[in-house]
Amino acid sequence: MKAEELLDLAPVVPVVVLDDPDAAVPLARALVAGGLPAIEVTLRTAGAMAAIERIAAEVPDAVVGAGTIVHPEDAERAAEAGAKFLVSPGCTDRLRAAMTATALPFLPGVSSASEAMALLEHGITAMKFFPAEPAGGAPYLKALNGPLPQISFCPTGGITQDNAARYLALPNVRCVGGTWLTPPDAVRNADWSHLENLARKAASLH
Ligand code: 3PG
Repeated sequence: MKAEELLDLAPVVPVVVLDDPDAAVPLARALVAGGLPAIEVTLRTAGAMAAIERIAAEVPDAVVGAGTIVHPEDAERAAEAGAKFLVSPGCTDRLRAAMTATALPFLPGVSSASEAMALLEHGITAMKFFPAEPAGGAPYLKALNGPLPQISFCPTGGITQDNAARYLALPNVRCVGGTWLTPPDAVRNADWSHLENLARKAASLH
């Protein structure tokens, strides 16, 4: 799968911060049932790699990826755990090389024209725009589309069910990402039907 295809799997990519890997499988099943198959599990918790492994092994309809790839060595470790895609909040030369070496689709994070252009020089045309709201939001992305229409973005950071449509209306946005699909209380209480309902609402965004 190419990174551009990843952006077209669903209008929203749930960004998951999961402490308990035992919750990973029912959580992923709920999101997939609601219509959101691409799921980014962030490498911010001790259980993240185990969560990726379990989703990859037990939820065949999910396309599980690893987010918060910050250290170059995380890229290969995530690939070994079964991640199908990689996402980083920003990018460096070493990180880009490490993500490229996995042969997985990846979305490197950018928040400026110069950062996007540096990746474009390496043929990368699909990126995460992070942190979307503090960095300028939908008006900023709209402005980037003038000189850089060949780049597609998945904005994340401050996106909600209520402001997602503003981004999705832009020609250079194919999907958005966010943590609002997995409220910590609902995850703690194993309220999977709540997650499925949130996912269904998000899947109908366009
Ligand atoms: C992230 O990688 O932290 C995501 O952008 C999540 O941001 P959110 O919590 O604002 O959705």
